[in-house]
Amino acid sequence: MRKLILAGVAAVFMMAPAFADDPIVIKFSHVVANDTPKGKGALKFKELAEKYTNGKVKVEVYPNSSLYKDKEEIEALQLGSVQMLAPSTAKFAPLGVKEFEALDLPWLFKDDDTYAKAMKGPIGKWLFKKLEAKGITGLAYWDNGFHMVSANRPLIKPADFEGLKFRISGSKIADRYFRDLESIPQIMAFSEVYSALQTGVVDGCENTPSNYLTQKFYEVQKDITVSYHAHLQYAVIVNSKFWNGLPADIRGELEKAMDEATDYTNSIARKENEDALASIKASGKTTLHYLTDDERKQWQTAMQPTYKWAKGRVGQEVLDLISKELDVKMN
Ligand code: LMR
Repeated sequence: MRKLILAGVAAVFMMAPAFADDPIVIKFSHVVANDTPKGKGALKFKELAEKYTNGKVKVEVYPNSSLYKDKEEIEALQLGSVQMLAPSTAKFAPLGVKEFEALDLPWLFKDDDTYAKAMKGPIGKWLFKKLEAKGITGLAYWDNGFHMVSANRPLIKPADFEGLKFRISGSKIADRYFRDLESIPQIMAFSEVYSALQTGVVDGCENTPSNYLTQKFYEVQKDITVSYHAHLQYAVIVNSKFWNGLPADIRGELEKAMDEATDYTNSIARKENEDALASIKASGKTTLHYLTDDERKQWQTAMQPTYKWAKGRVGQEVLDLISKELDVKMN
């Protein structure tokens, strides 16, 4: 009899959904290595969130596409299978918000400070508002610097791009500027890029130094142009239903953890990328090329049609806002 009662108690325990003092689990999925600005930012958020909530929240970080690849992770967030992501804003079209792609316009941000100011100000806020209707809440923007571009031949003049296939991450604006250069862009998940470069499925790609280093792209690309032609930024996003359903005091602590993790990530991004570039150079496995002012102007002229084209893709409103805030001409 006693055995039966014990077995019954055990069964009830096993079936019980969650106890009041079970931690709230936040699964945070992303596609890059731990040793990058985003990877380090996610781990910093975990550390602070668990500390500030006294262990009431447990953050499980899944780096390097170990849980989901690019497109799958966005679907998983909508379904509630993960609670937090930090995709590059170039990947937001499947959420139905193409406006983020305006941030991919070539040479839009003249430097890191211009970028940081824009995202903290009206542009960043306006874009996050667009997410609300999709059941997604934007918590922060994380920086990862500017894109380089590479192939197995030097890319110095616009004509050098002609006929080459380039992997892009998702944005139609990037698709457009690669087409302006007479090359052939192809969307591909981040986790597949190394092998696509290695096997020649694509000839080249664009990315930041920290991603080139940690994914070893530089080992399978003979020539990298340090062009810094477009910016890579992330939006840390959560499922609104999950986020708004958290007890207010817990949410407050998580917001504090996110604010600090954001300051940390944005403060290390530039140095991480400079160090990554130095390591790539020191490896001797690829040749780095730098554009002269005149060469850069030639690229800018060749990519200029993207600005005119962008209106049909992202809409006039976001372009007007960016043009006003950054004091740039849109066509
Ligand atoms: C890419 O797909 O190239 C990037 O968005 C990866 C990342 O998250 O930095």
